Amino acid sequence: MSAPMVRIEEIAQHVAEEVTIQGWVYNRTHKGKLVFLLVRDGSGFVQCVAFKNDLVIEVFESMAHIPQESSVRITGQVRADDRAPGVPGGYELGVTGFEVVQASAEDYPITLKEHGTDFLMENRHLWIRTPSQWAILRIRATIISAIREWLDQHGFINMDTPILTPAAGEGTSTLFEVDYFGDAIYLAQTGQLYNEANIFSLGKVYCFGPTFRAEKSKTRRHLTEFWMVEPEMAFCELDELMEIEEQFVSHIVQRVLSERAAELTALGRDISQLEKITPPFPRISYDEALEKLTEIREATTDPELKERLQIEWGEDFGSPHETELTKLFEKPVFVYGYPTEAKAFYMEPWPGRPEVSKSVDLLAPEGYGEIIGGSERISDPELLLQRIHEHELPEEAFKWYIELRKYGSVPHSGFGLGVERTVTWLCGINHIRETIPFPRTLNRIYP
Ligand code: 4AD
Ligand code: MG
Repeated sequence: MSAPMVRIEEIAQHVAEEVTIQGWVYNRTHKGKLVFLLVRDGSGFVQCVAFKNDLVIEVFESMAHIPQESSVRITGQVRADDRAPGVPGGYELGVTGFEVVQASAEDYPITLKEHGTDFLMENRHLWIRTPSQWAILRIRATIISAIREWLDQHGFINMDTPILTPAAGEGTSTLFEVDYFGDAIYLAQTGQLYNEANIFSLGKVYCFGPTFRAEKSKTRRHLTEFWMVEPEMAFCELDELMEIEEQFVSHIVQRVLSERAAELTALGRDISQLEKITPPFPRISYDEALEKLTEIREATTDPELKERLQIEWGEDFGSPHETELTKLFEKPVFVYGYPTEAKAFYMEPWPGRPEVSKSVDLLAPEGYGEIIGGSERISDPELLLQRIHEHELPEEAFKWYIELRKYGSVPHSGFGLGVERTVTWLCGINHIRETIPFPRTLNRIYP
């Protein structure tokens, strides 16, 4: 075959030319003298149309019987056709040549019928080939690229923080213990504490890596292994933190819109909802949020909702609370000033209100809820030590962390954005397990 090899995502630039693509057969239909193959190559899906009279009969017959998932090379003329299915769609290939690399075994388990989630999870290594999963994983990669792009362009230095850690960073109830030559150590729940050291050398930093939490409940929002980006800044207080977060998140959304519109459309995402995501974002205090929740509770006639929204001052919001709150806003909403007792040990108290912390969560709209947790950090070494005792953390393991408050301490703040939560929201899907190639959850570690 002498036609140039192209990727499906570039096919629009080759209308009326003969090209070759290589990929896999996703779907096949046969109507009399016509065979339609929907072929995917990693960059997109395109329809290839073979007309019996145009091909040697053996080639046409081999196309007419090619099993789903067979690997193939196809040469053909690119035609624009609005009705042609595919991603991005609107183009098809009039087949002139067809070559089989491997005919797939006939028992491919993921047929084009509906399958149950357990079955799909068990076959995750194959499930990722389907258009919805392919689209989600492409959007995920763009989100990660946009995260790095914004931080790198805004003076943040990438610092890799350790994954093997001597103590808890985010509470002792979700630690994964590892045997380290006879000592018990833990997989990192966060890189933040190390970044608080890094800012005193580099000013503005971020870490970006996998984090681990032994989440013992099954929810649509929790993985046991998830990716988090954590920016941390010296000389930064809560207001500035929120400004940075809204610029950062808006950049991610806008980049996904400009680069991955075809994938969003393939997922059926309402893009107009995402077009609204521009700074500034609304800000409400925890106290105001609690008032709004009380109003919703009082107004609803649904007894189950009343029950689910039950909350006392001092408790952290659960997903039902976040879901109701985000319905009140079109953009992500900042909730700041959570009760000290509901949050991590390292948060700076609110001036004059020690029962409140200088914390802020960012809740994604349309019911998605928390995608970012962040705060200003305690800068007083005495108070920090007191908190470490209150939380029953091992003082020895935090000696270095307290010392940071001794040598040129400054107000400093940071936040953590969960990649998988962000992917869930931007893709408009209802479960976090589809947002990472091989999810790790309470009940699943295979494949
Ligand atoms: O709110 P979290 O626990 O905050 C921290 O870890 C801080 N150290 C961040 C910082 O200030 N540097 O987690 C931050 C984000 C959450 O908002 C959520 O998006 C995500 O991490 N996250 C999870 N994502 C998936 N599965 C889980 N089990 C998650 N736990 C947290
Ligand atoms: Mg949080």
